[in-house]
Amino acid sequence: MLILAFPDYCAPAERLACRLNAPFELIELHRFPDGESLVRLPAVLPDHVIVCRSLDRPNDKLVELMLFARTARELGAKRVTLVTPYLCYMRQDIANRPGEAVSQRIVGRLLADLFDDVLTVDPHLHRISHLNQAIPLANAVCLSAAGAIGDYLSNRFEDAILLGPDSESEQWVSGIAAQIGFDYAVADKIRRGDREVDVTLPDKEFKDKLVVIIDDMASTGRTLARTIGLLQNAGARAVYAAITHPLFCGDAEAHIRAAGVKEIWSTDSIEHPTSCIKLDALLSEAVRSIL
Ligand code: R5P
Repeated sequence: MLILAFPDYCAPAERLACRLNAPFELIELHRFPDGESLVRLPAVLPDHVIVCRSLDRPNDKLVELMLFARTARELGAKRVTLVTPYLCYMRQDIANRPGEAVSQRIVGRLLADLFDDVLTVDPHLHRISHLNQAIPLANAVCLSAAGAIGDYLSNRFEDAILLGPDSESEQWVSGIAAQIGFDYAVADKIRRGDREVDVTLPDKEFKDKLVVIIDDMASTGRTLARTIGLLQNAGARAVYAAITHPLFCGDAEAHIRAAGVKEIWSTDSIEHPTSCIKLDALLSEAVRSIL
């Protein structure tokens, strides 16, 4: 078995290789001036290769993964596994208007055609309950960072209120609360546009309380910023944010910080200065379980 990484996700992939006690090599990547990619793998591959790459900002990365997987097979790999801690295109799961591409199904099918196994962490599945409904593979494995986030929070606080900003976050916030014995609540959110959300806090006393907002991702940061602002108005002593996937598009982080968050913690599903919660233990256990 060999663990391979693209240069944009080298350190987490190397941590995974260390945990698995497996050899590690970097895939060479060159982007030509016209935007095309050149992907170069080690010329000799073992039967099983595992590529570890997150699919944030995914469009180029998907093409490069396709070049990688087809080349790996041409070079003799019998089993090609994708470990993608952040999996893209899972949110668009229906055509909201006639003619719209259902990206979840199309990208899922593409990955199933390229790989024998796909492992990911907390994909944003809304209307389906199992990852293999999106990626039709026997080994489409969905892991959760909730345990790692819970461990991190329990080392930081003796007590705090955990708050999910919308009903979709309840699955993570309730799980973490049960794991570490903290109180939790869930707000209501209405999304009015890409960068416009209305949030209503639940009927709960936040005055003088430490509050940790838990969410699966921060994209534009508007959900977090709005919720932080409301908690400040409600008199919270300090507001923190713990998120799984720090996408942080454009001015997202600045917006969240300007809202008054005390600290932001995220996992290394996407590498970012806030990525202090490492997932290599979770990922290596999952890889072992499919060997
Ligand atoms: C939505 O359902 C997700 O759980 C996140 O709350 C959302 O994607 C965050 O997006 P943004 O940072 O753009 O508000």
